[in-house]
Amino acid sequence: MEATYQPGLENVIASETAISYLDVEQGEIVLRGYDLIELANKVTYLDIVGLLLDGVLPDAEQRRSLEQKLIAEYEFPQNVLTMLQLLPKQSNLMDVLRTGISAIACYDEELEDRSRDANYRKSIRLLAKVPQIVANGYRAVTKQSFIEPRPDLSYSGNFLYMITGKVPPETEEKVFDQSLIVYSEHEMPNSTFAARVIASTQSDMYGALSGAVASLKGTLHGGANEAVMKFLLEAGSVEEMESLILNKLARKERMMGFGHRVYMKKADPRAVLMREALAQLAREKNREDLYNMCVIGEEVMNREKKLFPNLDYYAAPVYYLLGIPIDLFTPVFVAARTIGIAAHVIEQHANNRLFRPRVLYTGLRGLHPQT
Ligand code: ACO
Repeated sequence: MEATYQPGLENVIASETAISYLDVEQGEIVLRGYDLIELANKVTYLDIVGLLLDGVLPDAEQRRSLEQKLIAEYEFPQNVLTMLQLLPKQSNLMDVLRTGISAIACYDEELEDRSRDANYRKSIRLLAKVPQIVANGYRAVTKQSFIEPRPDLSYSGNFLYMITGKVPPETEEKVFDQSLIVYSEHEMPNSTFAARVIASTQSDMYGALSGAVASLKGTLHGGANEAVMKFLLEAGSVEEMESLILNKLARKERMMGFGHRVYMKKADPRAVLMREALAQLAREKNREDLYNMCVIGEEVMNREKKLFPNLDYYAAPVYYLLGIPIDLFTPVFVAARTIGIAAHVIEQHANNRLFRPRVLYTGLRGLHPQT
């Protein structure tokens, strides 16, 4: 077969999958046959977990059973929390999360079992424990007391409660749940690819997820949501927003939260949904100024660069208004994406072919060591 080279693997088909597909022409993110945005408006994150793991949306009974399975896995190894407390205060919370995921792997008796059933159970364990690493990992390094998960709250309600220490009002829980849905799965981003590459060696799900966390830390990927919020706080007002963006572009810097390898010159449907969520939240919290800043930013970027916002641009201010610390924005993204990555690892293990590409060699040849 003739080898071709595409820098950044742009437009290269890396895998077959029945999990999700970005149909850019139709403006649809297909998730196991459904439109992700329609799902985000009609079902809950727990339903998405069922859909991604079982291939079908759960009915009421199946949803209850899934919830019970998750609650049964809430128990968390305290030694891991003690270990995270030893990390320095300035630790990046993505590194704390990656460390926590690696550590809990050591407590999973089924770690080396790659069968579908064992991988399914590991996915449930990770879904139950990753939000706890996110919330209590933050508490560990900031020397705050830990918060126990509350099985009487919904999955998303408990996650937000563990982060903020307050049971969220229903409207805020709903917005957070929607954000988890739109972050849950997105075809073959860098992190999912990294996870599949790792899984293709027959390595385990925890290792694949840890690799994906490292990928998501970068500002060209998940790390963008934190960078967006820092930029919005720096701008501080609608008036400053435009001039700050123009200065940035004049310096040939990238504006975080804009552009996307696959959508590029088209709107990211997830950003459109989160913009609506932000509008509602900003009204409720009397922070229309923040919403207006974002809209101005969108207009300027469209006018100057013909670029559209991606999900991170609107998820950032939504998380800010929900009271989530900025350093946790990307870890929350990871928690939401855990189910997507788990589904990809299961699929990779079920029909595996080792990833092993070639290179276009540009180095020297024919050298010999001096003897
Ligand atoms: N700000 C300014 N210019 C941009 C931006 C941006 N955010 N994104 C792309 N461009 C410009 C590039 O400078 C380039 O311009 P040129 O042709 O004049 O040199 C052109 O658009 C094409 O950019 P590429 O770098 O080739 O596009 P690529 O597909 O590699 O980039 C990426 C995609 C990395 C997401 C890019 O748009 C970017 O850096 N965005 C900011 C980071 C970000 O928001 N990441 C989150 C992604 S979504 C997610 O992870 C949930």
